[in-house]
Amino acid sequence: MSERFGLRVMFIVFLLVSPGKASVFAQDQCLACHELIEDNHAALFKRDIHHTKGLSCADCHGGDASKEDMETAMDPKAGFIGIPQGDRISETCAKCHSNAATMVKQYDSILPLDQMEHLQTSVHWDLSTSGKEHIVQCTSCHGAHGIVPKANRNSPVHPLNIPATCAKCHSNATFMRDYNPSLPVDQLEKYKTSVHGKRNEGGDPKAAECASCHGSHEILAANDVRSRVYPTNLPLTCSHCHSDAAYMRGYGIASDQYEQFAKSVHGKALLEKKDLGAPACNDCHGNHGAVPPGVESVSKVCGTCHALNAELFATSPHKKAFDSRKLPECETCHGNHEIVAATDELLGVKGRAVCAWCHKEDSNIKGYYTARTMRALTDSLIAAEDSAIMLVAEAEQKGMEIGEAKFKLREIRQARLETRTKVHSFNLKQFQEVADGGFTDASAVTKQATEAIDQYYFRRWGLLVASLIITTLAVSLFVYIRRIENEQAVNR
Ligand code: HEC
Ligand code: HEC
Ligand code: HEC
Ligand code: HEC
Ligand code: HEC
Ligand code: HEC
Ligand code: HEC
Ligand code: HEC
Ligand code: HEC
Ligand code: HEC
Ligand code: HEC
Repeated sequence: MSERFGLRVMFIVFLLVSPGKASVFAQDQCLACHELIEDNHAALFKRDIHHTKGLSCADCHGGDASKEDMETAMDPKAGFIGIPQGDRISETCAKCHSNAATMVKQYDSILPLDQMEHLQTSVHWDLSTSGKEHIVQCTSCHGAHGIVPKANRNSPVHPLNIPATCAKCHSNATFMRDYNPSLPVDQLEKYKTSVHGKRNEGGDPKAAECASCHGSHEILAANDVRSRVYPTNLPLTCSHCHSDAAYMRGYGIASDQYEQFAKSVHGKALLEKKDLGAPACNDCHGNHGAVPPGVESVSKVCGTCHALNAELFATSPHKKAFDSRKLPECETCHGNHEIVAATDELLGVKGRAVCAWCHKEDSNIKGYYTARTMRALTDSLIAAEDSAIMLVAEAEQKGMEIGEAKFKLREIRQARLETRTKVHSFNLKQFQEVADGGFTDASAVTKQATEAIDQYYFRRWGLLVASLIITTLAVSLFVYIRRIENEQAVNR
C-alpha cells in the first residue's frame, strides 16, 4: 500500500520535472499548449501570482481554458479577446482588482481595491498622443505576465526596482517630449547622486524611492495642490519616514527634522501662512539631487532666497575664516531646521548673542569690539526711532500738520532693517554707514516734530496772552463805563 503510494508520487514528480510533459496534468489548456510551443509568456506566467492563485490565461484573455483544441479554446464566441490594447488593458485588471466580490469573496484577498480609481484621477490618466487611450496602463508598471507581490525582489514595483520602472518613461526624452516637453527627464540620473538613490542602489529598500515621495497609483503633477510633493504637503511626505524613530533607527541620524521645521520661521510661514516663498524640505535638500547640502553649498541654498545676506557674507572676513574651519556659512549662527526669527538679541557679546560664542574680550578681539559696537549702534538707533515715533504721535495728536516727518519715519525703519542685513558684512564701516543714515533721518524727524509741538504751544500761549489782553481791556472798559455812569448819576 505504502509502496504503491510512493511510486505514484515518484511518477508525478518525474512528469513534473521532465520538460513538456507536465502539461499533461495542467488543467489550464491555454497554459499547457503555450508551454508546448515555448511561448515565453507561458514561462513567465508559471511564477505569476495569478497562476499561484489558480487563475488561467483565460481570466485575462478570455476563451475556454478547458479546451485542448486551439480554435475552440481561442474562439471569440467563448469570450476570447486576443491581446488587450489601450484602456482595455486596465479594464481587464480592474475587472477583478476593483471588485470586492471577486477579490475578497472569491480569492480571500485583503489587497486594497482602489488602484483603478486612483489611476483614473492621476496625471498618468491624461490622454496619450493618439487621443484614443490613456498614457499609462496597469501593465506599464506591473507588466502583464510574471506578476509577483510587491514585496518580491523580482517585482517591478519592489522598492529597489521602482526607480528603473518609472525611468523607463521618465528618462526617455523622445517619449516624454510628446507629452510634456517642459518636464525634465533627469530624475533618475539625479536621484542616483542622492543619499536616497545611493542607498537604494546599494540594496537598502528603506530609503525613499520615486513612489515614496510621489505615490504609486495616485501620482499628480508636482504643481497640483493635492500632490504629495506640493510644497505645503511635502514636509509631511518626508516626515513619514524621517519622523518615525523606529523606522530610522540604525541610521544614526535624528528624527526630529519635521518637528523642528514646523516650529521654525520657515515652517510657520509655509505650513501656517501657506507662504510659498518659504522653503519646504526640498528647497534646501533638492528634489532628486544630492542631499544634504554639504558645508560649502548651504549658503548657496539659503542665498537663493536671502540673496543680500549671502552676498555680504561672501565678501566678509567670516567667509575665509569659516571655510577654512569647515563651518557651514549660515547655519553656524542660524541653525538649519529650527531657524527662528532673527532678533537683535543675536547680535553683540551678551546674553543670547551668537558673536560671543567665538569672540571674547581676550581672544578674537576685533570681532568682539565690532559686535559690541554694532549692537550699541542698533540699540541707539532703536531708541532714536522710538523717540521720533513718540514725538510725531504727540504732534499729530495736537492736530499739527506733520506729514513729511511721518513719511521720514519709514526711512528710519528702512535703515533699521538694512542694518540687520548689513550685519552680514561683519564690517563696522559698512554697518555704520547705514546706521548713520538712520540717525540723520531720526534727528531730522525729531527736529520737525519738536518744532511742530513748540509751534502748538506758541500758538496756545499767544491765544492766552491775547485773550488776557482782550479780557483786561474789556474789564477796564466795563469799569470805565461804570465809573462814567456813576459819575453821571452823582452829577445828576
Ligand atoms: C493547442 C494550442 C493552443 C491552445 C489550447 C491555446 N493557444 Fe493561444 N495560441 C496558440 C498559438 C499557436 C498561437 C500563435 C498563433 C496565433 O497567433 O494564432 C496563439 C496565440 C495566442 C495569443 C496571441 C493572439 C494574437 O492575436 O496574437 C493569445 C493572447 C493566446 N494565444 C491566448 C490563449 C488563451 C487565453 C488560451 C486559452 C483560452 C489559448 N491561447 C489556448 C496556441 C494555443
Ligand atoms: C493578468 C492578466 C493576464 C494573464 C493571466 C495572461 N495575460 Fe497575456 N497579456 C495580458 C495583457 C494585458 C497583454 C497585453 C500586452 C501587454 O501589455 O503586455 C497580454 C499579452 C499577451 C500576448 C501578446 C504579447 C505580445 O508581445 O504581443 C500573448 C501571446 C499572451 N498575452 C499570452 C498569454 C498566455 C499564454 C497566458 C497564460 C499562460 C497569458 N497571456 C496570461 C494579460 C494577461
Ligand atoms: C505608475 C505605475 C503604476 C501603475 C500605472 C499601476 N501601479 Fe500598481 N503599484 C505600483 C507601485 C509602485 C506599487 C507598490 C507601492 C504601493 O503599494 O503603493 C503598486 C502596487 C500595486 C498593488 C499591491 C497593492 C498593495 O497595497 O499591496 C496592486 C494590487 C496593484 N498595484 C494593482 C494595480 C492595478 C490593477 C493597476 C491598474 C489599474 C495598477 N496597479 C497600476 C505602481 C503602479
Ligand atoms: C481574475 C481576476 C484578476 C485579474 C483579471 C487580474 N488580477 Fe491581479 N490579482 C488577482 C488575485 C486574486 C491576486 C492575489 C491577491 C492576493 O494575494 O491577495 C492578484 C494579485 C496581483 C498583484 C500582486 C499584489 C501584491 O503586491 O500582493 C498585482 C501587482 C496584480 N495582481 C496586478 C494585476 C494586473 C496588472 C492585472 C491586469 C494585467 C491583473 N492583476 C489582473 C486577481 C486578478
Ligand atoms: C508609461 C510611461 C510612464 C511610466 C511607467 C511612468 N510615468 Fe510618470 N508620467 C508619464 C508621462 C507621459 C507624464 C506626463 C503626463 C502629462 O503631463 O500629461 C507623466 C507624469 C508624471 C508626473 C507629473 C509630472 C508633473 O509635475 O507634471 C510624475 C510626478 C510622475 N509621472 C511620476 C512617475 C512615477 C513616480 C512613476 C513610477 C512609479 C511613473 N511616473 C511612471 C509617463 C510615465
Ligand atoms: C525624496 C523625494 C523624491 C523622490 C525619491 C523622487 N522625487 Fe520626483 N519630485 C520630488 C519633488 C519634491 C518634486 C517637485 C519639484 C518641484 O516642486 O519643482 C518632484 C518632481 C518630479 C517630477 C516633475 C518634474 C520635475 O523633475 O520637477 C517628476 C516627473 C518626478 N519627480 C519623477 C520622479 C521619478 C521618476 C523618481 C524616481 C527616479 C522620483 N521623482 C523620485 C520628490 C521626489
Ligand atoms: C521611504 C522613507 C523616506 C522618505 C519618504 C524620505 N526619506 Fe530621506 N532618507 C531615508 C533613509 C532610510 C535615509 C538614509 C539615512 C542615512 O543614510 O543616514 C534617508 C536619508 C536622507 C538624507 C541624508 C541624511 C544623512 O545621512 O545625512 C536627507 C537629507 C533626507 N533623507 C531628506 C529627505 C527629504 C527632504 C525627504 C522628502 C522630500 C525624504 N528624505 C523622504 C528615508 C526616507
Ligand atoms: C532652510 C533649509 C532646510 C530646510 C527647509 C530643511 N533642511 Fe534638512 N538640513 C538642512 C541643513 C543645512 C542640514 C545639515 C547639512 C549638513 O550638516 O551638511 C540638514 C540636515 C538634514 C538631515 C540630516 C540629518 C540631520 O538632522 O542633520 C535630514 C534627514 C534632513 N535635513 C531632513 C529634512 C526634512 C525632512 C525637512 C523638512 C521637514 C528638512 N530637512 C528641511 C537644511 C534644511
Ligand atoms: C556670524 C553669525 C551669522 C552668520 C554666519 C549669518 N548670520 Fe544671519 N544674522 C545674524 C545676526 C546676529 C542677525 C540679527 C541681526 C539683527 O537683528 O540685528 C542675523 C539676521 C539674519 C536675517 C534677518 C535680517 C534680514 O536680513 O532680513 C536673515 C534673513 C539672515 N540673518 C540670513 C542669513 C543667511 C542667509 C546667512 C548665510 C549667508 C547668514 N544669515 C549668516 C548672524 C549671522
Ligand atoms: C525658498 C526660499 C528660502 C530659503 C531657501 C531659505 N529661506 Fe530663510 N526665509 C524665507 C522666507 C520667505 C522667510 C520669511 C518667513 C516669514 O517670516 O514669513 C525666511 C526667514 C528667515 C529668517 C528670519 C528672518 C527674520 O526677519 O527674522 C532667517 C534667519 C532665515 N530665513 C535664514 C535662512 C537660512 C539660514 C537658510 C538656509 C539654511 C534659509 N533661510 C533658506 C525664505 C527662504
Ligand atoms: C563660529 C565662530 C564665530 C562666530 C559665531 C562669529 N565669528 Fe566673527 N570671526 C570668527 C573667526 C574665526 C574670525 C577670523 C579671525 C581671524 O582670522 O583672526 C572672525 C572674524 C571676525 C571679524 C574680522 C576681525 C578681523 O580681525 O578683521 C569681525 C569684524 C567679526 N568676526 C565679527 C563678528 C560678529 C559681529 C559676529 C556676530 C554677529 C561674529 N563675528 C560671530 C568666528 C566667529
